[in-house]
Amino acid sequence: MKRITIKDKEFDIFITREVIADAIDKIATKMSEDLKDRNPLFICVLNGSFMFASELMKRVNIPAEVSFVKMSSYVGTSSTGAVKEIYGLQEDISGRTVVIVEDIVDTGNTMKQMLDQLNAKNPKEILVSSLLLKPEALVQDVPLNYIALEIPDAFVVGYGLDYDGYGRNLPDIYQVVD
Ligand code: IMP
Repeated sequence: MKRITIKDKEFDIFITREVIADAIDKIATKMSEDLKDRNPLFICVLNGSFMFASELMKRVNIPAEVSFVKMSSYVGTSSTGAVKEIYGLQEDISGRTVVIVEDIVDTGNTMKQMLDQLNAKNPKEILVSSLLLKPEALVQDVPLNYIALEIPDAFVVGYGLDYDGYGRNLPDIYQVVD
């Protein structure tokens, strides 16, 4: 078992890079089929989705635009419940097929807020893609179209996900040790 320390917490290896790559392959293949005639705009949510977005977009082999936005950040290991706002969106999304690319859907509160803000701009449709989903933590009714991996309700880092800013660059996913 590979154990690492980030700040005051220990983490054990949980999902290897090979398993992640296979899972991303599967959703990229499905997206490429589903969206081939829809000229999608992929909106990737920084910072957490950077590694997932990079691997996903290399595998999506249809005409598509890729853009990046930010939401206000999440502090520590639990959701603040604060209102988050999208910033950095340059494209006109009216009439477009939009695919949100996120690192993780936990309670779904962030995704709900993002969907509400994007839906106000009159897109044709919004689809949701996330590297990870914690089904047990989900409290919002949000579309979950392309989920690479489902995980239990425990804090994870790596592959873009951080613990207080650290761990994003880990090529595998680690789970906190209680
Ligand atoms: P939600 O609003 O509760 O769905 O949380 C979404 C955001 O919280 C994600 O975009 C992450 O930034 C962060 N988050 C939730 N769970 C984790 C985790 O296990 N590790 C790192 N960040 C997380």
